[in-house]
Amino acid sequence: MTYVSLPLRSGYSIPQIGLGTYKMAGEDTYNSVRYALDLGYRHIDTAQMYGNEAEVGRALADSAVAREDIFLTTKLDNPNHLPEDVQRSFAESLTRLGTDYVDLFLIHWPLPAQYGGDFLSTWKAMEELVADGRSRSIGVSNFEPNHLDILIEGSQTVPAVNQIEVHPYFHNAEVVDYCHEHEIAVEAWAPLVRGAIMEEAALVEIAHSHGCTPAQAVLAWHVACGNIIFPKSVTPARLRENFEATAVELSAQEIALIGSLDRGEAGRTGYHPETMKRYGE
Ligand SMILES: NC(=O)c1ccc[n+]([C@@H]2O[C@H](COP(=O)([O-])OP(=O)(O)OC[C@H]3O[C@@H](n4cnc5c(N)ncnc54)[C@H](OP(=O)(O)O)[C@@H]3O)[C@@H](O)[C@H]2O)c1
Repeated sequence: MTYVSLPLRSGYSIPQIGLGTYKMAGEDTYNSVRYALDLGYRHIDTAQMYGNEAEVGRALADSAVAREDIFLTTKLDNPNHLPEDVQRSFAESLTRLGTDYVDLFLIHWPLPAQYGGDFLSTWKAMEELVADGRSRSIGVSNFEPNHLDILIEGSQTVPAVNQIEVHPYFHNAEVVDYCHEHEIAVEAWAPLVRGAIMEEAALVEIAHSHGCTPAQAVLAWHVACGNIIFPKSVTPARLRENFEATAVELSAQEIALIGSLDRGEAGRTGYHPETMKRYGE
């Protein structure tokens, strides 16, 4: 099995499959990150909002894997959009993570209904983190095309990635197409629909014919679409299963069949970025 990395427009590359840590806490976080690194994962996705950066940092410190071999992402929490809070909270994230740089720092949500709709000055504060070498790449999460237009027109930096909800039930096609046109890498959050797709008949059949699991068939579909994915699991067998999904090669017909499960807007499981204004989840 080869561990594929994809190029980012910032000049760095990112492992296509990693480990997500949303809703992981305490020892679950520590144990999952440690085990994932032992299995060969080299990409960890966390966030200030998840409250688990310290456990991620402890797992990285105790692992035999060198820091420079791991792609580490964290995200700016919603209360921290003011430029001075970007600087302060980012420094706190580095301390919790026990590292002097991250590979990728994202604005978690655009919050167009907060801060007077100004996420451009937040983005410009993020650019300073690249300039001083503490974040190798910067990007965004949950940004719609109209939000991305504002960053591209108003700053020197096109986001390296946009982390958005994408899975077989919700293709988020308009945003994905925009990202492809602008060479912004697509990171697909909730790649497994948070576990709620495993009984889908078409998937069960495809999985059966490959001798794999439905989760592996879904992850193989993402890989075939070029999406960057970091399925979350605290279950050792699933961590292995998900990591090994990249060995499953779907036919063009199977990719189309899984793609046909799209439910459009009805398939969205999370907030719509235009109206999400909560602090924390
Ligand atoms: N930027 C954003 O706004 C945003 C939003 C949501 C998520 N994310 C990121 O994306 C990552 C992934 O999304 P997610 O955690 O929401 O959902 P997900 O990865 O689609 O699904 C996670 C759920 O699926 C279960 N699961 C994992 N592997 C499985 C398998 N092989 N078979 C059956 N069930 C399996 C997990 O259970 P167990 O853990 O019990 O095994 C967990 O309940 C997050 O962890 C986070 O890093 C970002």
